[in-house]
Amino acid sequence: MPFGSFKGALQDGLKHGYAVGQFNINNLEFTQAIVEVANEEGSPVILGASEGAIKYMGIEYMAAIAKAAAEKSKVPVILHLDHGGSFEMVMKCLRHGWTSIMIDGSHHPFDENVALTKKVVEACHALGVHVEGELGRIGGVEDDLTVDAREAALVQPGEAVAFVQATGIDALAPAIGSAHGHYQGKPDLAFDRLREVRDLTGLPLVLHGGTGIPDEDIRQAIRLGVSKINVNTENQSAFTDAIRAVFAKDQAVYDPRKYLGPAREAIKDAVRAKIRLFGSAGRG
Ligand code: 13P
Repeated sequence: MPFGSFKGALQDGLKHGYAVGQFNINNLEFTQAIVEVANEEGSPVILGASEGAIKYMGIEYMAAIAKAAAEKSKVPVILHLDHGGSFEMVMKCLRHGWTSIMIDGSHHPFDENVALTKKVVEACHALGVHVEGELGRIGGVEDDLTVDAREAALVQPGEAVAFVQATGIDALAPAIGSAHGHYQGKPDLAFDRLREVRDLTGLPLVLHGGTGIPDEDIRQAIRLGVSKINVNTENQSAFTDAIRAVFAKDQAVYDPRKYLGPAREAIKDAVRAKIRLFGSAGRG
């Protein structure tokens, strides 16, 4: 089928208390694994395309591979720009057939984030394309934040209302203390903030940095209005661990299919577990 509706999938998740997984794609095998397992589980799925992965795969290849996967799929597959940094990047993706966009203006001052996000929403909505925006700063694993710095990085609920009203976004990624990459300690999510943002905005919310968040915290986030969860690092690690295991057994392997095949299977196992945890199985 053609690419699915981003807003439709997230609204359905919000209504029925589940989250749709965004699994980032890094190559052909990631795309195949994610879409295959989504079909096996009967789950809608979002393919996350970061600017780095677009550069690595080539935008034409990525668009063609994702489109082929969606057309073969019996469940909705959505191709989503992850952390788009500029209006120009958004335009490039729209030109190549993306049907949903994340514009990340969170590193700009609030007013500039509003202006950039609003401009992207106007262009995207004119084409029927949905938009996710970000507020607060979602860290990376290298961020060793002090209490004050953590507080400054978290979403401010009052700002969230103003942001949603001024921009017209379809989904919001509020920074609540999750981070991209492997966590050093146990993640400390600001659930009160999440609840407040949900109550004030009513929008589907997005949780970034899904790798390494304990299952119970994931369930709690979904109960508090998260209807999209992003995962990348866990699949990258599963993929690479499987390749390492092949070579640990036999250094002489040279046929890429002999190590990329098991790596693709490893991603399937990881994605299947997340789809079941997010409650999206059978919702496609
Ligand atoms: P992880 O790599 O920590 O799973 O986060 C992915 C993500 O949030 C992409 O936007």
